[in-house]
Amino acid sequence: TTEQRIEQLLVQMTPEEKAGQLSQLNSDWEDLTGPIVQKGKEDKVALIREGRLGSVLNVRSAAQTRMLQEHAMQSRLKIPLLFAQDVIHGFRTTFPVNLGQAASWDLALIERSERIAATEAAAYGIHWTFAPMIDISRDARWGRVMEGSGEDTFLGTEIAKARIRGFHGKGIGHTDALLTTAKHYAAYGAAVGGRDYNSVDMSLRELHQVYLPPFKAAAAMGVSTFMNAFNDLSGIPASAHPYLLREVLKKDWGFKGFVVSDWGSIGEMINHGYAANGKDAAQKALNAGTDMDMESRVYAQYLPELLKEGKISQKDLDDAVRRVLRMKFALGLFEDPYRFSDLSREKKYTNHKEHLEFSREFGSKSMVLLKNKGNLLPLSKELKNVALIGPFAKETVANHGFWSVPFKDDKDRIVSQYEGLKNALPKSTKLLYAKGAEVEGTDTSLFAEAVKAAEAADVVVLSLGEGHAMSGEAKSRSMLEFTGVQQQLLEAVHQTGKPIVLLINAGRPLVFNWASEHVDAIVYSWWLGTEAGNSIADVLLGKVNPSGKLPMSFPRSVGQVPVYYNHYNTGRPASSPTNRNYVSAYIDLDNGPAYPFGYGLSYTTFSYTPITLSATTLKGNTSLRVSVKVTNTGKTAGEEVVQLYIRDLVGRVVRPVRELKGFEKVHLNPSQTKEIVFTITPEMLSFYDDQLVWDWDAGEFEIMVGGDSTTQNKAKITWEK
Ligand code: IFM
Repeated sequence: TTEQRIEQLLVQMTPEEKAGQLSQLNSDWEDLTGPIVQKGKEDKVALIREGRLGSVLNVRSAAQTRMLQEHAMQSRLKIPLLFAQDVIHGFRTTFPVNLGQAASWDLALIERSERIAATEAAAYGIHWTFAPMIDISRDARWGRVMEGSGEDTFLGTEIAKARIRGFHGKGIGHTDALLTTAKHYAAYGAAVGGRDYNSVDMSLRELHQVYLPPFKAAAAMGVSTFMNAFNDLSGIPASAHPYLLREVLKKDWGFKGFVVSDWGSIGEMINHGYAANGKDAAQKALNAGTDMDMESRVYAQYLPELLKEGKISQKDLDDAVRRVLRMKFALGLFEDPYRFSDLSREKKYTNHKEHLEFSREFGSKSMVLLKNKGNLLPLSKELKNVALIGPFAKETVANHGFWSVPFKDDKDRIVSQYEGLKNALPKSTKLLYAKGAEVEGTDTSLFAEAVKAAEAADVVVLSLGEGHAMSGEAKSRSMLEFTGVQQQLLEAVHQTGKPIVLLINAGRPLVFNWASEHVDAIVYSWWLGTEAGNSIADVLLGKVNPSGKLPMSFPRSVGQVPVYYNHYNTGRPASSPTNRNYVSAYIDLDNGPAYPFGYGLSYTTFSYTPITLSATTLKGNTSLRVSVKVTNTGKTAGEEVVQLYIRDLVGRVVRPVRELKGFEKVHLNPSQTKEIVFTITPEMLSFYDDQLVWDWDAGEFEIMVGGDSTTQNKAKITWEK
């Protein structure tokens, strides 16, 4: 059996070879297709041939993975290498940045996008993706919200599961499936001030209630690996956190995969002030349950010595190696180390037509229509002149978004907004263009040309936002407005009096109150990937009716962050958006977000009937049927995300004002009505109390169903134990 083969290997392996298996280094081989040419000082090929390297990240071609694997086959025990890559929102074909994907609330589309990403990446020789990123975050300042699913635990957990299903496909061992990583464990999204890598200090109750559920679900469905977070959690760096790793993950959740550190995060424990030196860091990380060292190089250097000195145990060392080897066996690499390095498959999945078509569809389904005064959108086919203005209008590579894998031909294959619109507009419509401003800086010299284009147009499409590399790792922002002089550009174009459709390009919620007040139509278009321009044109011209809903509350000002819908009521809740009289509010800002969680418009309208409950009093472990009828009351077919929220009115600990507990995306033709049914069980009423007991309290509950998190469509139920 595999387990016997692993034990046989363990008997033969030296401590150095074991430490090697637990080490991962970055690729030094930048030319992805040519021969292996050593770039750095270190001879990594020699390490591979000596069996002292277990995994390499950022090698991404069938040819190069094969070449490196050939070296691994020259090692004493012929243990194959594991090739890892950040396949975050697509690979060769890219999809919207993950927060944008979450705005689709479409689990089938999300799963399919990961299926495609896995198929393409695996065809390029990759075995393992550092995804899904499943950090809950309520802080738009944190650049990495772009990679996650937003602020909500329920939505985030459902999306985490869909992503893992997509990456795994028919199962690990198939040549189109990737090993997965639940990251970053844990609470990385709660860094103080939204500043990346910063500390996190929170109650265990909050940790288990809000931040851990996606990880628990990932472990339960067999995610392959976990990655440590960079932060310290309540005083202990996550890379050596015995409670998180040994107690919760490996013991309570019974996780069988392995834990990889984040890049250099074991060594960074010296900076944290938690380890005296590299050796101390290696000892603490291994003892706490981190199995693989990414780029700190301390496992390779110190584990054999630590073993000799009895500072780490043979049992823990072997357990870590066993976990890594198990994955290599699961991939079938011991049978055929080259099975993922297949040139013909790589060719087949380069510029794959169906994948590109899917990316176009997914892009359009991820956009969120925030405002549409006078039904300015979709654009009329009768328009004579449309002006496309803004620093993002002719961007190609930027549409990939942050955390995408660069390819040499990106410039030629990614569809710009200009190109997308140009191809989609009727021949009778002229598309004018002006850049208007740079993304950053103070230069206003491009305004005049932009104003001229606006003046000549019937409608202006203004493409503003933040640069694509302003969100992502290490991209925290202290201001959330459009960067550079873009706001001034907007005001200058607005002065022309021409109707404006504002396209907002961003990887996070931005603050744009002036625009919300003055501009007729606003579409949040994130970064949509390879087919961005086509996806945008499809929505602007009405080929696709927008159906996205926000996965994060959008703040009115950065001072309001973190703003999130499922907060507690406090002892002094504000009674209205403007109520500031000794209530929990800011004296200089309206209450509530600029746009709430779950919000998004459509080119049609939907009406909801009041909620029908199967009972208004219940007892014991039974279930409640909740239904509403939703009707498309407009003239266009469209999709609505019907959302179910619950409030527990009195609890043994304070409970949120509402929590998302279900949703369904429904397609409705004009005048069509569908009944949407949710089933509520006591499990859905349960929560962690202050003793970390998962339980529910008898009493009254409010049930809410509607099109966003502010819905007032409510019903009440009394549920006794
Ligand atoms: O996977 C990433 C992680 O999310 C952030 N640091 C680097 C890793 C490897 O690229």
